[in-house]
Amino acid sequence: VNAVITIPVVVHVIHNGDAVGANENISNARVLSQITVLNQDFRRMLDTPGYNESEVGADVEIEFCLAQKKPDGTATNGIDRVNLGMASWATESQVEGTLKPQTIWDPTQYFNIWVANFSSSASAELNGILGYAQFPSTSGLGGLASNMGGATTDGVIIDYRCFGTSDIAPSSNYFADYDKGRTATHEIGHCLGLIHIWGDNSSCNVNGTDSNKDYCPDTPAASTENYDCFDVYDSCPSQTGTDMVENYMDYTNDTCMNIFTLNQKARMIAVMNNSIRRASL
Ligand code: ARG
Ligand code: ZN
Ligand code: CA
Repeated sequence: VNAVITIPVVVHVIHNGDAVGANENISNARVLSQITVLNQDFRRMLDTPGYNESEVGADVEIEFCLAQKKPDGTATNGIDRVNLGMASWATESQVEGTLKPQTIWDPTQYFNIWVANFSSSASAELNGILGYAQFPSTSGLGGLASNMGGATTDGVIIDYRCFGTSDIAPSSNYFADYDKGRTATHEIGHCLGLIHIWGDNSSCNVNGTDSNKDYCPDTPAASTENYDCFDVYDSCPSQTGTDMVENYMDYTNDTCMNIFTLNQKARMIAVMNNSIRRASL
C-alpha cells in the first residue's frame, strides 16, 4: 500500500505579551499559510511559487495538519501561544534548555514546531539563523547518528520573520528572500533525515552509497551551498549535473525552491516508518 502519511502538528508561538498578530505573536492566518506551504511542497502541488515549474520533483506523500486535541484530550486549533516573558532568544542553550522543554507536547504524538524571535543583536549566536532542526536516529540510513536527540527538544524552531507567507500582513515582518515559507520545509526535511545537498562538505567525490555525503544519488554532486538561482551553478564541474538550486535542501532563496527528489523522499519515508518519535506520529 502506498498511503499518504498525515503528521499532526502543534505550532508553539513563543511571545512576550504582544497582541495576537503583532510581531512574534503571529496571527492564526500566518500559521495556516505555513501549513499550506508545507502541504504544497511535500505533495509537489503544481503552480506553487518557485523556480521550477515542471514536475521533476517527488510527491513525498506526507501531509501536515494542525492538531485537533491537546495532550489532555480537550479541543485545540493546534496553535499553542505561550508567553515566556523573553523579548528575544540569543542562544541555542536558552532554546534547548528553556524554551523547548517548557512548551513541548508529547513528541511521539505531535510534531512540534516552535516559532520565536531570534535576537538580532550582532553578537547573538542565533542572529541571522532562520531556523534549525533536530535530526532523527539513523533508521539504517547513512549520515545520521544512531542515538536519538533529546525527547524534550525534538522538532524544528523557526524565526517568526521567515514563518508563513508574506501575503499575510504585516508584510514588513518578513525577511526578504525567505518569505515564502520554505524555511520550515527545509528544516522539516532535516527532521525527517535529509542532509544538505552539498553534504556540508567541500568534496566532489561521488560513490554509490554516500553520493557526496547526502546519501541521495539523484541530487547532483555539489561542493558548496548556493544562495540564489540567478544563474546556473556548477560547483562540481567534473561530475554529472549542475547544482540543484531548486532543491529545498540547498540554501537558495525561497522563490528558487521547488524540489525534493525521489531519493530524498525514500529517506523521509524510511524515517517515518522506522525512527523512534516519528513512526508513532
Ligand atoms: N540556514 C538554515 C538551515 O541550514 C535554513 C535555510 C533555509 N532556506 C530558505 N530558503 N528558507 O537549516
Ligand atoms: Zn539546513
Ligand atoms: Ca547527492
